[in-house]
Amino acid sequence: MSAYYESDRAVSEYLLFHYGKPDEVLPFAQGPVGGLDYPSRCVTEFADDIGLSSEMRALDLGCAVGRSSFELARWCGEVVGIDYSDRFVQCAKRLRDEGWLRYRYRDHGEIMEEGEARIDPAIDRNRVVFEQGDAMFLREGLGTFDVVLMANLIDRLVDPRKCLGALPDLIRPGGFVILTSPYTWLTEHTPEDLWLGGRVFDDGAYTTSRALDDVMGQAFEKRKRIEMPFLIREHRRKYQWSVAEGTLWQLRRVTES
Ligand SMILES: C[S@@+](CC[C@H](N)C(=O)[O-])C[C@H]1O[C@@H](n2cnc3c(N)ncnc32)[C@H](O)[C@@H]1O
Repeated sequence: MSAYYESDRAVSEYLLFHYGKPDEVLPFAQGPVGGLDYPSRCVTEFADDIGLSSEMRALDLGCAVGRSSFELARWCGEVVGIDYSDRFVQCAKRLRDEGWLRYRYRDHGEIMEEGEARIDPAIDRNRVVFEQGDAMFLREGLGTFDVVLMANLIDRLVDPRKCLGALPDLIRPGGFVILTSPYTWLTEHTPEDLWLGGRVFDDGAYTTSRALDDVMGQAFEKRKRIEMPFLIREHRRKYQWSVAEGTLWQLRRVTES
């Protein structure tokens, strides 16, 4: 597991990515289009397709500092956010308990700016719990869910197939998985033979979209596919602009014969 997600740099970049105001994330008039507010869009882009409601229970796997979990709680009566990074989970828990958190983000070099993460008071924070955990080895007793969100997680897992293979037992019949990822496969996170697509074999390229159809298609119907740009600020003059593929999957109901 990468130590990066326990670092000061990651905590700062992810608090800004999740909670920064638009002009803090991108303090220039020019810039890539449509990359802001990604952790919120990972929920809102699919809310109507799913029919999110207060009767629903949601799981945010790889929740980082928690923004998508809070967004899910606008609708869902119960949300569980799980992340491997202890430091990310500490931030998310503090935001849950206190509603706000002061942090510093990079201008450039060692020059830092002050930011404040705030949860919208319209969100009932009591609906959300956060815990540290491993998406590939989820603890017993988590129960089942109507919605599982996996935002930018699969290409950070050692064994993404193992995690996806456990989903049908986690999800209630007819329930949903929201899966978003830019499919940035790196051997520092995932050994090459465990990449989910992104490989070239003798018979040609095997894309991650195809691999997901093969793996998820065994138990789920694909309901939606969209392009989802996102912008992560490293410092005032350096950014990562990526385009995730967002897909929505619905667990097939087992029909009696
Ligand atoms: C690229 S970040 C995405 C975070 C968040 N979902 C978002 O979209 O901003 C990947 C996240 O997955 C977490 N992570 C990596 N491996 C994990 C694992 N095995 N179980 C749970 N979380 C993991 C990292 O700590 C990090 O928060």
